[in-house]
Amino acid sequence: MNPARITLGSWIMGREGWSNVDDADSMAVIHAAFDKGIRAIDTAPFYGKGHAESLIGRAIAGQRDQWIIATKCGLRWEAGRGVFHDLSPARVQTELEDSLRRLRTDSIDLYQLHWPDPATPLEATLAVMARAIDKGQVRQVGLCNFSLEDIQMARTIMPIASLQHPYSLLNRDVENEILPFAQSNGMAFMAYGALHGGLLSGKYAHRPSAPKGEAKSYFYEHNKDAMWQQAEPILTTLRKAAATNGSTVAAEAIRWTLSQAGVTTAIVGMRNVAQLESNLNCGHVPTI
Ligand SMILES: NC(=O)c1ccc[n+]([C@@H]2O[C@H](COP(=O)([O-])OP(=O)(O)OC[C@H]3O[C@@H](n4cnc5c(N)ncnc54)[C@H](OP(=O)(O)O)[C@@H]3O)[C@@H](O)[C@H]2O)c1
Repeated sequence: MNPARITLGSWIMGREGWSNVDDADSMAVIHAAFDKGIRAIDTAPFYGKGHAESLIGRAIAGQRDQWIIATKCGLRWEAGRGVFHDLSPARVQTELEDSLRRLRTDSIDLYQLHWPDPATPLEATLAVMARAIDKGQVRQVGLCNFSLEDIQMARTIMPIASLQHPYSLLNRDVENEILPFAQSNGMAFMAYGALHGGLLSGKYAHRPSAPKGEAKSYFYEHNKDAMWQQAEPILTTLRKAAATNGSTVAAEAIRWTLSQAGVTTAIVGMRNVAQLESNLNCGHVPTI
């Protein structure tokens, strides 16, 4: 696995929605990832309500210029009420300043709109992005989870550098239109969930049971029998590939996503350094 093709994911580093996460392990993952050649990290204010960004800011202090930082805006949380899509200019401006402070940086390399917000005209949000670029606070703008129609509209307003969507052997929806569009228009495509929240890591022999409220339950649907039935034959194939290549099931799942035409990078979450090593295991090195 070429580490430069991997972007380190940080949802798990926020701790919320993932059980028993240790900050020391997350710090160690960031440092080990750097040592192995990973240079991009993806985060969001939503990941632990600022916790992941703050941890990253601490972890990369002193190495800031050697990392590409991608963060996001547009999810607002209210105690006791839940999480809302909010790309209003005031919210985005506040989030930008908070992210810069938490990440201990003057500029975000890639600033992404996390989810569409039908209540805010896209023009209004992108006007804030354009000002942030003029001020040097943001280098490039990306979109996550947007429809093709909205992506096309956004591109008429300003350059959009990247698209971020789920893409794995268990979720191939982007093949219909988003991925070909990114490819034919020279946009970076950032695939998230290549391991489907760990379901494709190979560590489960039976359908797992994730607690309600965890990302594995509400986002990746690990508890659904239909999901496991879909995963089983894929895991059988991945296990064979891992045995043939002397690699790991997780590395084969990531390799599949990275091998698809148009995919620029796979954003992968990792709980500890052992998972990092397993994910980067490219198998036998041919002898000359
Ligand atoms: N834009 C968006 O809306 C959006 C949405 C989702 C994700 N993302 C980004 O994409 C990143 C990746 O997605 P994700 O973290 O949700 O899911 P993922 O990368 O598919 O799965 C990551 C999880 O799988 C488990 N895992 C990883 N490597 C493993 C290994 N070698 N062996 C066993 N288990 C392993 C770990 O969880 P356990 O140890 O708990 O099993 C890890 O947290 C996120 O961190 C985030 O940066 C963006």
